Amino acid sequence: MGDAIESVQREVRVFRPPASFSARARVKSLDDYCKLFRDAADNPESFWGDVAKEFHWFTPWSKVREWNPPNARWFIGGKTNISHNCLDRHVAGGRRNKAAIITELESGEVQTLTYDQLLREVCRLAHVLKSRGINAGDRVGIYMPNCAEAAIAMLACARIGAPHTVIFGGFSAQAIADRLNDCKAKAVITADGLRRRGRTVDLKNNVDQALTNVPSVEAVIVHRNTGDNTPMKAGRDLWWHEAVEGKPRFIETEAFDAEHPLFLLYTSGTTGKPKGILHTTGGYMVWAAYTARSVFDLREDDVYFCTADVGWITGHSYVVYGILANGATSLIYEGAPTWPDAGRLWSIVERHGVNIFYTAPTAIRTFMRLGDEWVKRHDRSSLRLLGSVGEPINPEAWMWYHRVVGDERCPIVDTWWQTETGGIMISPLPGGTPTKPGSATLPLPGVAADVVDEHNRPVPPGKGGRLVIREPWPGMLRGIYGDPERFKNTYFPSGGIYVTGDAAHRDADGYIWVLGRMDDVVNVSGHRLGTAEIESALVSHPSVAEAAVVARPDALTGQALVAFVTPRGNATAGEELRRELGKHVTREIGKLAVPADIRFTNALPKTRSGKIMRRLLRDIACGNASVGDTTTLEDYSVLQKLRESEE
Ligand code: WT7
Repeated sequence: MGDAIESVQREVRVFRPPASFSARARVKSLDDYCKLFRDAADNPESFWGDVAKEFHWFTPWSKVREWNPPNARWFIGGKTNISHNCLDRHVAGGRRNKAAIITELESGEVQTLTYDQLLREVCRLAHVLKSRGINAGDRVGIYMPNCAEAAIAMLACARIGAPHTVIFGGFSAQAIADRLNDCKAKAVITADGLRRRGRTVDLKNNVDQALTNVPSVEAVIVHRNTGDNTPMKAGRDLWWHEAVEGKPRFIETEAFDAEHPLFLLYTSGTTGKPKGILHTTGGYMVWAAYTARSVFDLREDDVYFCTADVGWITGHSYVVYGILANGATSLIYEGAPTWPDAGRLWSIVERHGVNIFYTAPTAIRTFMRLGDEWVKRHDRSSLRLLGSVGEPINPEAWMWYHRVVGDERCPIVDTWWQTETGGIMISPLPGGTPTKPGSATLPLPGVAADVVDEHNRPVPPGKGGRLVIREPWPGMLRGIYGDPERFKNTYFPSGGIYVTGDAAHRDADGYIWVLGRMDDVVNVSGHRLGTAEIESALVSHPSVAEAAVVARPDALTGQALVAFVTPRGNATAGEELRRELGKHVTREIGKLAVPADIRFTNALPKTRSGKIMRRLLRDIACGNASVGDTTTLEDYSVLQKLRESEE
């Protein structure tokens, strides 16, 4: 069985939710969870219909779901507006003066927007977009620092039905251009710059460079964040603060079909070209809100802090939409987590009285390495719940998070999900689910998760397999922008079963342990990158003939990238080219894609059909003494040469 995955997991510790936590929680026991799970499985239409009823619908739906694989529709015929549900509903319902978003800039400046103020800023920006000819259906790129204005931009787009595509502020001009061209964006909302470790990153300059190759963009709206000078192109660029001047503080909400596109978010695939993952209005809203409330056990007076950037799906669902849909308070931090010192995040927790803290394993490992002192010198008594997302969390990091950050008092929710799933799929419900370090535990109500072999048959406990979802759920992606074929082939290759692309195993208690990606996509510091995209960036350098990128485990970033590069005949391999390639990848994709090691070789192992055998490269990158099956290898001498490429 070439496909079988062996599990090496030996973790046996179990942590029950503290009684005091369960007593006040929405879900108070494993039995409570099991009942919800059964209700949702037995009668999904009435279960999700009931959840959706609490939102404002301008026109009610006639049917809860329709499933013609791979196409799902939810809340059919219903008309709503997610911005109305995140803002107006709370302003009218008693939360008018409650803090919606607290932003702490890297400089230390703190800005708080109440629900009423946030609604006003969203409406004013929506007027600006309208006045620039942006209407329902037009795509808008958002390339911003991690601050309240990014959320305002998203909500303003949503309000007028213009699907947004947020591009992470660490991406290069080329990556911006690729994404804007793919969706033919009509406008871009950006800022002069962002702050990172005391320095500024000139976002507007990256946009200007990108736009020389993007004919569809007609307008650029620029938020003044750093105050640095930036050239403005007449007729195209406007300052946000000038453009909103005199604009009315309210704009009527338009009602959009539940399946109206809400946003596209680009994520890497195996073939290199980023995929524009499409989420629509009604199902996404219900999923983001329901999962946020259940998993974080949100309470009215909580201060909730998620460290993710709005440029990733975590920022969409659990900094902006899911949190505001619940009328909660979302804290956003602009800057680097270790600036000006390694205590920054814990200082934020202390100063703002944060109750719920959600971050990624890579950050947890970084703090673990920096030493407990940085955490302990800050008062964390306000914390009651901790969360993790982005990659498997190793038990050692889990225990450190539990012991040092949570003072052994706070449950940990290890949340498994994907850009494609729109929201959390597998996670403890903190008042009910006993946790095991390293396991995301059990699927949420409505999630028909299974671990199967290559014929979609469930594998027995303890055996590894492919993680799949057998039934549609409200927050699922509705497509890949402009590529229905790829959507079907990638996620629904055999009918109605959603293929996550992850490997996992289930233990005797039914707990799910995610092992990582099945394919060549690598996950560095919680960011999923397609190796092919990085390879194509390397190969676009004039000194490079061929490149293959694989991952090796890394204690800090989860996985680290190793690039095997064949230089062109006239190029000299060496330190200088290595540095040069690092800079080149930074320009093409962004710093996060720069390989930790670049090894020069004069040939790559290939199959007879010419495919690079990344599996062998992975073995070499990991320093394994023997490599796996080499029977399909075209030229055996290549392996020896590759070993010689090791430093
Ligand atoms: C991939 C999705 C979900 C938002 C951030 C990443 C990995 C994510 C976990 C977890 C083990 C995890 C999976 C998944 N992943 N969370 N709790 N345990 N693995 O979103 O970029 O779409 O990546 O991240 O491999 O498929 P994404």
